[in-house]
Amino acid sequence: MRINRIGDALGAEVTDIDLRERLDSGIVAKINNAFTDHIVLVFRNQKFASPDEFISAAENLGEPMPPVTMTYRLPGYEVVEELKNNSMDKRTGNPIDQRGGSWHTDHSNLERPPKATTLFAISLPSSGGGNTEFTNMYLAFESLPGDIKHEIAGRRSFQAYESRRAPRKLLTRSEEEIEGSSGVWQPIVRKHPESGKPALYINPMRSDAIEGMEEREGDELLDILYRHFDNPDFQYSHEWRPGDMLIWDNRCALHQATPPVNPQELRYMHRIMLKGDLPIMADP
Ligand code: SIN
Repeated sequence: MRINRIGDALGAEVTDIDLRERLDSGIVAKINNAFTDHIVLVFRNQKFASPDEFISAAENLGEPMPPVTMTYRLPGYEVVEELKNNSMDKRTGNPIDQRGGSWHTDHSNLERPPKATTLFAISLPSSGGGNTEFTNMYLAFESLPGDIKHEIAGRRSFQAYESRRAPRKLLTRSEEEIEGSSGVWQPIVRKHPESGKPALYINPMRSDAIEGMEEREGDELLDILYRHFDNPDFQYSHEWRPGDMLIWDNRCALHQATPPVNPQELRYMHRIMLKGDLPIMADP
C-alpha cells in the first residue's frame, strides 16, 4: 500500500490496496493514521462488483449506519444510498437541487453525526465536472482572528435538519424521519477525538442559532464564519476517476458536490456513512 498527498490543504491517495480483502490490523492502523492526518482519502482502482463488496470495504474503516431518509436508499440495502445528479424528491415528485451541492458536513443535526462518509463512483460524466470539494476546518479555525475565536470559545450552535437560512432545499421527511432528526446543539469548535485538534464545526445547511445570541447577532456571526472558511487555501477539489472510493472526515471537513459540465450526463455513486461519537467541545 502506498499513500501520497494530493492536496495542499488536505487529501491523500491510497494505491496498491484492494479493499475487498479483509485487511490485517497493521494496515488498518496505517489507514486510520493517514485518515487522521489527511482528512480525505482516495482509494484508487477499487473493483467492487456489487454493493456488498462496497459494504465490506467500508467495514474496514468503520461501522456503516443507515441514512436518515429512505428516499435514496438502494433497494435491498440498509446502509447504501444512491446518489444521482437527476434525483427527484419521491414525496413531492419535484426534481431536487443538486444533492450535496453546497458546503456542509453530514448530519450535524444528529446527536451522533456520522464520523465519515464514503462514496464509490459507478458512472462518471464523460464531459467532466462533478468534482467533490473539501475544506479543511482545522485550518479554518486556526486562521480565525483572535476576537472571533474568543467569541465562539465554549459556545454551541443549534443544528436543525434544514436551517431557515439553508442555501438549498433538502428532502421532505416522513413523520418518523422528522422524529429521528429534529436537531441538536453542537459545539462550534469541536475537538477531534483522534488528532485532539480543534476544528470549526459549523454547517451552512443546518446551523440555525448561536447559543446566548439573538437571531440577528447569531446570523451575523455565522456569516463571518462562512465567509472565512470559504477560502481556496483550505480546499481540495477531487476530480473523480473510475474505481475511486473516497472517504472524508465529517468532524473536521466540509464538502460539496459540483454539477457535471453536461447536466444530461449521469453522475452515479453509491454512498455509505460510518457511525460517529458525540461531538466534544474543544477546550476554550
Ligand atoms: C454528499 O454531499 O454526500 C455528496 C457529495 C458528492 O456527491 O460529491
